[in-house]
Amino acid sequence: MGDLRGRSFTKELDFTSDEWRSLLELSAELKAARREGREVQRLQGRNVALIFEKTSTRTRCAFEVAVAEQGGRTTYLDPAGSQVGHKESAADTARVLGRWYHGIEYRGAAQATVETLAEYAGVPVFNGLTDDWHPTQMLADQLTMTEHSGKPLEQVSYAFIGDVRNNVGNSTLISAAMMGSDIRMVAPEQQQTAPEVLERAHEIAAATGARITVTDDVAAGVAGVDFVSTDVWVSLGEPKELWAERIELLRPYQVNAELLALTGNPDVKFMHCLPAFHDRATTVGEELYRATGLDALEVTHDVFESDASIVFDQAENRMHTIKAVLVATLAD
Ligand code: CP
Ligand code: NVA
Repeated sequence: MGDLRGRSFTKELDFTSDEWRSLLELSAELKAARREGREVQRLQGRNVALIFEKTSTRTRCAFEVAVAEQGGRTTYLDPAGSQVGHKESAADTARVLGRWYHGIEYRGAAQATVETLAEYAGVPVFNGLTDDWHPTQMLADQLTMTEHSGKPLEQVSYAFIGDVRNNVGNSTLISAAMMGSDIRMVAPEQQQTAPEVLERAHEIAAATGARITVTDDVAAGVAGVDFVSTDVWVSLGEPKELWAERIELLRPYQVNAELLALTGNPDVKFMHCLPAFHDRATTVGEELYRATGLDALEVTHDVFESDASIVFDQAENRMHTIKAVLVATLAD
């Protein structure tokens, strides 16, 4: 494995394909070590600041557990509790935190903020989600795909469907291109990947052999894939007013039993970064369902709860993969 010590992780392309692959391998190794009770703590004495300007369950907890299990400590700054970008610039915050902390995680809107933190902190900075990218999620997704398919990623095919023009969509496309996978971006034209992201993905694919399909045709997009993945139709920070329009636009792209059947693959697996709108058990969901008369949005409850669904394995892997990033960048 290459030496990643001291490196920031603001987006997938901070790493080469080989470095990315080595992070996936380290994730699998750390997961096995934990399971077998032979984990070695390599972050003793390390402090990691966790800045969250948007809410989180998985990412925050994954960072906290990963650091704790490796013997280090975290400080959590909640969406209301930090001065970043309001009372103090990202550059100034970075120069303060960089004096005490060995690493800084940031979740917020602007990609520029995480990049500024990385530029000024003098310690590794990790992107825990911005409007543009969700790179730690991708390591978890790809580790999960490897585990469930038993195939190397260059032999894996997957469709990302629905709101593909967001952080998870961008990151899914770029990371698939980096690993040489067969990736299908399935969405109506208005909600398709931005041209500059697509162009970059094609450049990477030319080197890795990845196959990229961009289509609004659900049947053609999902044909034969190993995995179907989706995300919420309106992301954190997007205005509530968008819901009606998005639901109208994306309704044909809902992952349901008929859509999974269109893959023609009886072993197809369903993935979702979570949280998901598949039942009425959320306050936001309840409001939406009442307004629209729908019972589910991007995925139906039966698919979410079916044997095809591997969403909780995927969620578990957030911790193992984030631990790998921390160990690779912060340990001696
Ligand atoms: N998938 C994900 O990032 O979840 P959280 O928003 O709960 O961190
Ligand atoms: N696209 C979603 C992902 C949540 C993990 C959002 O940004 O809210």
